[in-house]
Amino acid sequence: MPSVNGKINIAPSILSADLCQLGDEVTRVQKAGADWLHVDIMDGHFVPNLSFGPALVRSLRKFTDLPLDVHLMVEHPLQFVEPFAKAGADLLTIHVEAKDDVLQTLRAIKALGVKTGVSIKPDTNPNVLQTLTDEIDLVLVMSVYPGFGGQAFLEGAPAQIKEVRNIINASGKKIWLEVDGGINAQTAPAVIAAGADALVAGHAIFSSADPALALKQIKQASPAI
Ligand code: DX5
Ligand code: ZN
Repeated sequence: MPSVNGKINIAPSILSADLCQLGDEVTRVQKAGADWLHVDIMDGHFVPNLSFGPALVRSLRKFTDLPLDVHLMVEHPLQFVEPFAKAGADLLTIHVEAKDDVLQTLRAIKALGVKTGVSIKPDTNPNVLQTLTDEIDLVLVMSVYPGFGGQAFLEGAPAQIKEVRNIINASGKKIWLEVDGGINAQTAPAVIAAGADALVAGHAIFSSADPALALKQIKQASPAI
């Protein structure tokens, strides 16, 4: 996974892909210019839904060279860090609201040679990030309440994104600012204007009649930074 590169990176979320056609779906978005692949992991506790495990990441790793951006929506991420690292994750993002020690978990991820991310839910004060900027490669701001694809973008998200952008800039570190939930060609410009440099999009891409076109429309909606 590259370090911060001054462009907007698009990470299609396979949560909304047709899982019986997953290889074709991945190939299609890769050809359309996807930068990363976003893989949502849900445990039925941290969020009221279940999704994938390390086995899927292992299969994706063999199938594509796209960076695998793995979003752990799980109550106890520490126990899953090693299986996902061994499966081939390039980035592991944990939630600050999860129950394991955040610093310990981030250091475990780093020790496995994987990039580190922390995510905050819509109601979480971005100031929790102040003490973490030495430990992370990415912040993931949720612009919906995590758990399901296809939800509407929350209007309050740009204000939270701006606060995170200020914290990152004040730290002087190269840290990605990724935004996840309800992103489409209409919502992307406000997210980018607020300071995001990576956008997750699931429903808008994979539920479209033409996923490649949908991805390109989000990219085009993205003014250069
Ligand atoms: C939501 C997930 C998202 C989801 C985004 O809990 O973290 O990554 O797939 O989906 P859309 O783009 O459909 O809101
Ligand atoms: Zn996600």
